[in-house]
Amino acid sequence: MMQNILVTGADGQLGNEIRNLASNYNNLNFIFTDVNNLDITNINDVEEFFTSQPIDYIINCAAYTAVDKAESNYNSANLINVTGVKNLVALSKKYSTKLIHISTDYVFDGTNHKPYVETDATNPDSVYGKTKLEAEKIILNSAINAIIIRTSWLYSSFGNNFVKTMIRLGSERNELNVIFDQIGTPTYAFDLGKAILDIVEQSTQNNIKFSQGIYHFSNHGVCSWYDFAIEIMKLANINCKINPIESKDYPTPAKRPFYSVLNKSKIQNTFNISIPYWKDSLRQCIKKII
Ligand SMILES: NC(=O)c1ccc[n+]([C@@H]2O[C@H](COP(=O)([O-])OP(=O)(O)OC[C@H]3O[C@@H](n4cnc5c(N)ncnc54)[C@H](OP(=O)(O)O)[C@@H]3O)[C@@H](O)[C@H]2O)c1
Repeated sequence: MMQNILVTGADGQLGNEIRNLASNYNNLNFIFTDVNNLDITNINDVEEFFTSQPIDYIINCAAYTAVDKAESNYNSANLINVTGVKNLVALSKKYSTKLIHISTDYVFDGTNHKPYVETDATNPDSVYGKTKLEAEKIILNSAINAIIIRTSWLYSSFGNNFVKTMIRLGSERNELNVIFDQIGTPTYAFDLGKAILDIVEQSTQNNIKFSQGIYHFSNHGVCSWYDFAIEIMKLANINCKINPIESKDYPTPAKRPFYSVLNKSKIQNTFNISIPYWKDSLRQCIKKII
């Protein structure tokens, strides 16, 4: 049976990737929205969508994602990342809709030495991380049928991100300084979008259960921002020297975790999804950008 999927924040990186992937999923009918026609902070706005048609799933791609700006804009970050999610939860409960929500590796403080599993203690250092963690708690406490996917270092051919910034700056300058002491894993938003849609499709066909809870998803592998930048220059064929620097020499308003590699075993074992290696996905994305 055809299922209606409401995608919020669909003009962002992940939302755009889901738009592109949508035509591969024949039994899913997508309703793509962004703040101009569905502001998740306005509960009446959201309810209108539920009263005009049945919504089977929400994929919430809407968020306040400006990590540094959030430090001085708590109210805006809180409104979108917390109040917005509260609204989606309230309506999911009222209309028995399943929710897929995206969270972040920045809920961790980065003191781990091995990849984070879903049950590891959270301790966000940034306003952004705190608001995203608050939203996770609201979802979990509501006991609605929801999947929370924490991801990291998201990039895409859409929107603004590290890959596009490096390509632009690398073409303008002979050398760039990039931090080497923050370790994580890049995630191609295309791969995350595909994982989400595969989970939804399989659960609608009853191949797998929509098992609620928190899951980690990034690409496979590990790198620093420095290694990431070097690989971007290599794949984009840009001759720009990358110098490794320490975070202390690149001060930012928000404190970020030094280590935020995510363990993906749970999502792989629960759902039948494949996860590409980060360099392979980066190659695919750069092909689209240049
Ligand atoms: N980017 C990363 O590195 C990263 C890392 C880990 C986790 N995540 C999480 O992954 C998810 C997707 O991230 P992304 O990079 O695709 O984000 P994004 O590109 O910033 O897209 C977010 C979208 O939500 C829209 N939006 C803002 N306020 C809204 C509102 N009140 N109602 C409806 N839509 C609203 C934004 O519109 P405007 O642009 O007009 O504000 C934008 O189109 C987010 O939950 C994010 O927290 C991201």
